[in-house]
Amino acid sequence: MQHIDLKEIRSGDKYVSKKVTVCGWVRTSRDSKNVAFAELNDGSELLHTQVVFDKAVFDDDKALSSYLALGAALSVEGIVERGLKGDCNEIRAEKVELLGGCDTSYPLQKKRHSMEYLRTIPHLRVRSNTFNAVFRVRSELSHAIHEFFHKNGYYYVHSPIITGSDCEGAGEVFKVTTVGYDPTVKSEEEYNKKDFFGRSAGLTVSGQLEGEVMATALGKIYTFGPTFRAENSNTPRHAAEFWQVEPEVAFADIDDIIGIATDMIKSIIDSLLKNCGPELKFFDERFEPGLIAKLQHVVDSEFARVDYTDAIEILKKSGKTFVYPVEWGLDLQTEHERYLTDEYFKKPVFVVNYPRKIKSFYMKQNADGKTVAATDLLVPGVGEIIGCSEREADYDKLLKEIKERGMKLSDYANYLDLRKFGSVPHSGFGLGLERMLMYVTGMSNIRDVIEFPRTKDDLK
Ligand code: 4AD
Ligand code: MG
Repeated sequence: MQHIDLKEIRSGDKYVSKKVTVCGWVRTSRDSKNVAFAELNDGSELLHTQVVFDKAVFDDDKALSSYLALGAALSVEGIVERGLKGDCNEIRAEKVELLGGCDTSYPLQKKRHSMEYLRTIPHLRVRSNTFNAVFRVRSELSHAIHEFFHKNGYYYVHSPIITGSDCEGAGEVFKVTTVGYDPTVKSEEEYNKKDFFGRSAGLTVSGQLEGEVMATALGKIYTFGPTFRAENSNTPRHAAEFWQVEPEVAFADIDDIIGIATDMIKSIIDSLLKNCGPELKFFDERFEPGLIAKLQHVVDSEFARVDYTDAIEILKKSGKTFVYPVEWGLDLQTEHERYLTDEYFKKPVFVVNYPRKIKSFYMKQNADGKTVAATDLLVPGVGEIIGCSEREADYDKLLKEIKERGMKLSDYANYLDLRKFGSVPHSGFGLGLERMLMYVTGMSNIRDVIEFPRTKDDLK
């Protein structure tokens, strides 16, 4: 179909006084005595373009009302004119084709719907301004991430979705199986043998282990793809399917990787500030007043850094009553993370050197024997957005850790090999794409930054 993106037409001089054909969906409309107006959106930008219908031309009331119906899809031929307000152009319609009519049962009527209601219509909610803006930013954010790594000499590698190991060791792996219930099967081992791969398999929780393999040859790599966790928690920050960006860097220690994570966060936010002006303005006005200033501040200021041990002291002295206990050796809960970043530091903060026992098996053990060279980046409003560590590069220490945790050695044989053949210090992190999106849009529920969220007991 011959048509021009509305974005090209709404601003600038290029098409003024010219005849154009455009397509789009009616977002709002207005009918008055001699003229009618429809705000058209074709997805090329967040803002709508006004189409003016002169009733002397469109004198068939029934046809006109079908063009003005909310949600209707139109193809409009007309002349581009300077609008009365500001520099927005509008289109004076001459001919209209109704591509797809839309009746009054259309669920997105002209009012502010609740987020809960919009979640019940995942196939339509992207046509609302809010979700239109969210998915525009999601796209730009993904692009900015690729751009950051590409310009800094990283290779984009693809780690497998189906894996045989549990990288985080948290027992949250979704099983991949083709074998149904069979009462004759006596044991789990027998069951797994009969299965597709002749062994147990699952959906990856992280591309890290394969990323480490690639980094030991390509030096600097990143993966960027879907990861899956059968997390039984029904929170606004957890999804069963989410995207992770996972760089892995050879010859880098914990301080180097913290520097890389900081540069990446600043760089991608800077890109969004440059490329998502209308969307961020929309979120600033509707969802998080001060959002743009917050993001600019992140780009311009230093991130905080605090030792886990000191963070525990800060929490203990906070005078706050937390639901979960605060004790050295216990993991930080969301309420603790939020206090540290929202109230105490009031900016992004790296919490460094967590107790070994509460973190994953692969993290580099510090000389104190109690902590690991690991850090989480916490941000106001969301909490943890990055999990990061230097990896244990010593064969014996890693082997001992795997055994102590009762992990199946054969699943990690290749991973251990990396520590036998030219082992080097290396580090990496995982940024949750949706958590980052929540931070940059002010959306407070992860279900609202994924078009088709998969969470406990919910798959539409
Ligand atoms: O801290 P995590 O578990 O770290 C890893 O998976 C490492 N293997 C990453 C690495 O070093 N390559 O997860 C990393 C990030 C978290 O900080 C969070 O942003 C996000 O992934 N995340 C989730 N996001 C949405 N829903 C969930 N259930 C998430 N679990 C983790
Ligand atoms: Mg984590």
